[in-house]
Amino acid sequence: AAAEKGGYDHFMLKEIFEQAKVVKDTLMPRLPEDQNRIVLDDIKLSKKELENINKIYIVACGTAYYAGIVGKYLLERIARVPVVAEVASEFRYRDPVIDENTLMIVLSQSGETADTLAALRLAKQGGARVIAIVNVVGSSIAREADDILYTWAGPEIAVASTKAYSAQLAAMYLLTCHIALELGRMNEEEFKELRDELYQLPRKVNRVLNKAERIKRLADKYVNSKNVFYVGRGLDYMVSMEGSLKLKEVAYVHSEPYAAGELKHGPIALIEDTTLVVGIVTQAELYDKTVSNLKEVKARNGKVLAIAVKGNTEIEKVVDDVIYIPQTHWMFSSILANIPQQLFAYYVSTALGHDVDKPRNLAKSVTVE
Ligand code: G6P
Repeated sequence: AAAEKGGYDHFMLKEIFEQAKVVKDTLMPRLPEDQNRIVLDDIKLSKKELENINKIYIVACGTAYYAGIVGKYLLERIARVPVVAEVASEFRYRDPVIDENTLMIVLSQSGETADTLAALRLAKQGGARVIAIVNVVGSSIAREADDILYTWAGPEIAVASTKAYSAQLAAMYLLTCHIALELGRMNEEEFKELRDELYQLPRKVNRVLNKAERIKRLADKYVNSKNVFYVGRGLDYMVSMEGSLKLKEVAYVHSEPYAAGELKHGPIALIEDTTLVVGIVTQAELYDKTVSNLKEVKARNGKVLAIAVKGNTEIEKVVDDVIYIPQTHWMFSSILANIPQQLFAYYVSTALGHDVDKPRNLAKSVTVE
């Protein structure tokens, strides 16, 4: 078993450290340098068909859903198509409006999650086109979808999903650019700039992974926090949801994600000196707003750990600790901002002595409804 873990103490840590490769394997074959387009071999959806789509549903469960909401944000903002993102166990029971002009994107690591599969079938019955972003080749979801975008994350063994999420985000970056290009909402120049940035991403993933020791020390410092809030705005808010989920799943610490601007409408009443707020502040246009929310937390004696972009050092005057991620295009910060959250959850879990690879009550693939 030690050999299977490739020298790491746990599968979760091994899989976290595989992420530069996973991102590279998912992105690079689709981004040939000699073509100004994205090559998605298993997506047959034509330009004409895309032009007829008037609504997109993004449906998934758990971590895959949190990758989906990043996709929703990007698709609406870049491709300008209305998107509704929803967990599969809600979507399937509410008689959603589906027709031939609907596109559904489902995300699933295993390709076997019962609720996600049921949502896919419901969409197909209603005449929708279904694209699956899936990791397991030949899985039920891969077989039943019309189009497939494989995440090349390789087998994920740890129950808590890490590398599959990064691969799902990478797939969402590709799909967003692809749809925006097809619909004429992105031009070739813009695409080339984004592609150059995507080429840099695996290397930047490694730069964040190099901070593991520092993040371990921060996990030791904050291990006894009674309540943890993960906050951000825009894309950072989407990423905060995955950070909070990871801490609950593997460390059994109560935590909640919150839109930073909503803190003052309730949760701020819970802030005391045993509360930790993880503030994600990677989006330049929202930076000042979130930082002022973090100041409000500090004024009430809460502890603040920020995840910010390298160079934005003023934040050190406001918060207790900062983890910096490399600069990238705003669209692509989610993979980088999430890695410290994964490592933090991992180290809090192991410091508390929990079985990080097999957390209590959780299953890797949920095939019951
Ligand atoms: C379970 C796993 C999660 C996963 C979710 C969706 O809850 O513990 O890690 O995100 O199922 O699984 P899927 O295979 O559909 O991505």
